[in-house]
Amino acid sequence: MLDFLGSLERTHLCGDLRAANAGQQVVLMGWVNRRRDHGNLIFLDLRDRSGIAQIVLDKELTPDGHAKGEQVRPEYVIAAVGKVTLRDPDSINPKMPTGEIEIEATQLLVLNDTRLAPFSPSEEAIQNEEVRLKYRYVDLRRPEMQRNFRLRHEITLAIRESLSQQGFLEIETPILTKSTPEGARDFLVPSRVHPGEFYALPQSPQIFKQILMISGFDRYFQIARCFRDEDLRADRQLEFTQVDLEMSFPRQESVFAVVEQFLTSAFAAAGVTLHTPFPRISYDESMRRFGSDKPDLRLPGLTDVRSAFTDEALATLQIDPALPVVALRIPLVGELSRKEREDNHPLFDLKKGAKFIDDFKRLAKGFPEGAAKVRQLAGPAEADFVIIVAGDPAHPVKASDTKFEGRLSEREINVYSAAGNFRTELAKKYADRHQAFRVTEQVVEDAHARNASNPIDGSQAFHPIWIVDFPMFEYDLATAKWVPAHHPFTSPHEADMANLVTDPASVRANCYDLALNGLELGSGSIRIHRKDVQQQIFQSLGISDVEARARFGFFLDALEYGTPPHGGIALGLDRIVMLLAGSSSLREVIAFPKTAKAIDLMADAPTTVSDHQLKELHIRVALKS
Ligand code: AMO
Repeated sequence: MLDFLGSLERTHLCGDLRAANAGQQVVLMGWVNRRRDHGNLIFLDLRDRSGIAQIVLDKELTPDGHAKGEQVRPEYVIAAVGKVTLRDPDSINPKMPTGEIEIEATQLLVLNDTRLAPFSPSEEAIQNEEVRLKYRYVDLRRPEMQRNFRLRHEITLAIRESLSQQGFLEIETPILTKSTPEGARDFLVPSRVHPGEFYALPQSPQIFKQILMISGFDRYFQIARCFRDEDLRADRQLEFTQVDLEMSFPRQESVFAVVEQFLTSAFAAAGVTLHTPFPRISYDESMRRFGSDKPDLRLPGLTDVRSAFTDEALATLQIDPALPVVALRIPLVGELSRKEREDNHPLFDLKKGAKFIDDFKRLAKGFPEGAAKVRQLAGPAEADFVIIVAGDPAHPVKASDTKFEGRLSEREINVYSAAGNFRTELAKKYADRHQAFRVTEQVVEDAHARNASNPIDGSQAFHPIWIVDFPMFEYDLATAKWVPAHHPFTSPHEADMANLVTDPASVRANCYDLALNGLELGSGSIRIHRKDVQQQIFQSLGISDVEARARFGFFLDALEYGTPPHGGIALGLDRIVMLLAGSSSLREVIAFPKTAKAIDLMADAPTTVSDHQLKELHIRVALKS
């Protein structure tokens, strides 16, 4: 039999009670986390958002409450009325923040019962993620999830405050809109009123934020929902949230300063101190040194070991002498057995025309000097695990492999990125041996255990870095065209503008990425603000006037009405929270995420809709059964 609340009001949150509250009358409400029946005494761990408090139901003190206590089960919703008392010294629980006290109940109300869920929020780790997502309401009760969303709130609040203090106005932009230029697939929404026509959900507020600069708002930001119909991974969702901003009359450095300030505040809100300014590295250098445009600086970089080998040695080793020869090193992993080395082969991306040498004993037999030099260049520690990655001469050269002056060729990039991927895959595989990732986990754990006003130095654990000077164009072999490496509103460097048509390969984009521990956190650019340059870019991209007008006509019009120089950036909020929560998937920090198969298991979406709805929308489904 369930009780009504009547006039009872909650006085405290469970997790807030301390020894100083002893003697107070309290009313607590929440969920039964655990129940222990000791005959005349029943102990209930009562849980709410703030934590857990122990309720004692003494048969003598409250026969009625005790009787109800015999009936309640985990996850029942109850109210407990009683007095806070100090526990006997031998029953103090130092692991619980409320472990010094308990509540001697005088009354217990059972507000609701529960069906038996397939798991309990009091379980530490629940293996089956699908079950967690289906019963997300139960899953979200878990203290870890409650903590993640509190953290998300604190981080978002800190970012809002920081940007607001820096003069940014938060302005919302439409969700039902027109196709945006981020390059992923759009989600389309059929219009009932305009048969055969569709809105697109925004992949980002890109065009609108630029228009807000034309409208004179000077500094805009938005915690913006974005929608992209792309294949999902641990760090990608169909709908996600950006910290999106745009500013007028900026230099690249002014955008960096704004971001460094709000990100420092965000990390501080999570109890971690970041040091500014963040280092900057050019795209080319990032590829050469880390084999990635989102380098993980917790691990040693790649080392150029071309000089360790003579041309004859390279020929014997079947290494392409025209391509990079780099060594990657993972500290403390040590020499591996043959079997272990073989197990690593699947981690290497063979498609990139690169090969690797991981058998140093054999290398040292054939090329003692070369092997010794590699060790010396890459880092001599015997306990470190070293692999050489180089170009495979057997890999056919494609037309796109042409080397453009001053620019990494596609084959060079392939060798570097094969090495870069291998570096991070191996580091992940041997994470328990080298500790580089463990440092981050430890800092996050410690930060959570403390409070934000006493932050921990994150400089050993978090390594943000700006990547600048990306090439403006990539050569697309299929269409034999230069295609933009970024969205088409990205400005080239002013100095490279003259080469747009004559030498697209040499043009650098005025854009930048922010990477942190191997994750792309953000991306932005200084935009094109002049119509003539915009037209030139479209032209150089092979986008005709007609196509440009059809896709972005309203924006091209707006550009003609006094557009100030402007630029901005967007950071993935979910990714920031994921890092600071110490989670490995965005699903841990998004309340109602989609699975890797793009399904909302709780709401059961997507689903078919009624014929009536389809008819209203003038849509016929052409599905072969
Ligand atoms: P971009 O497309 O690089 O740039 O996105 C910016 C940042 O948003 C995050 N992000 C995602 N997070 C989760 N799931 C996804 N599917 C996803 N896609 C992107 C990443 C990424 O770095 N309009 C430009 C920004 C600009 O130029 O100002 C844009 O959207 O952290």
